[in-house]
Amino acid sequence: MGKIKVVTISGNFGAWSRTRVLIDTVVERIEAQIAIQRTDIVVGDLAPDLGALTDPKAIPPRVAGALAAITGADLLVVGSPVYKGAYTGLFKHLIDFIDPTALDGVPVVLTATGGSPRHALVIEHQLRPLFGFFLAHTIPTGLFAQDSDFTDYRLTNPEIATRAARAAEEAVRIVALGQPAIPDAA
Ligand SMILES: Cc1cc2nc3c(=O)[nH]c(=O)nc-3n(C[C@H](O)[C@H](O)[C@H](O)COP(=O)(O)O)c2cc1C
Repeated sequence: MGKIKVVTISGNFGAWSRTRVLIDTVVERIEAQIAIQRTDIVVGDLAPDLGALTDPKAIPPRVAGALAAITGADLLVVGSPVYKGAYTGLFKHLIDFIDPTALDGVPVVLTATGGSPRHALVIEHQLRPLFGFFLAHTIPTGLFAQDSDFTDYRLTNPEIATRAARAAEEAVRIVALGQPAIPDAA
């Protein structure tokens, strides 16, 4: 298997982010199993261009670059903080500019963070149907962590780390299904 293009999308805004730590945890577990080429997209970094964007025919270069990376990915690892019971508005705004056919069959790991467990089902009720719209192959194990699972922006709940490892294993298995078979040695 050649290098797998892994693209992460984080719906966070701040410089420090539990969501990014959670995404990193999954990607590190994936990287422990297969060779990857990684691209990270943070909606907060795109905010000045993305927030003002309404015309799909006038997409600024930075946003266009992010969209090209997303639609060229072999595997997506996405995550968002829960804001008002849902993924962040700017996360959805970025997703809204993806061509509806562009993620057909692409494996996607779903993650989210929240202040409490109250909105843990954002994974099943919002992120999974969103990527279902695109006919993407969402990985069965979703990953939700609450603020108390982190200490100083480090993931300190071992149960979440175990779950991240499981999601990563599932993702690698699904990615392998989509790869060309390794040719027999001559
Ligand atoms: C505007 C705003 C709205 C939020 N709404 C919710 C919410 O509805 N449910 C929840 O569990 N946490 C909510 N939170 C808490 C964040 O989801 C939580 O602290 C998250 O881990 C932050 O992720 P980050 O560190 O990546 O920014 C909210 C935080 C902000 C700033």
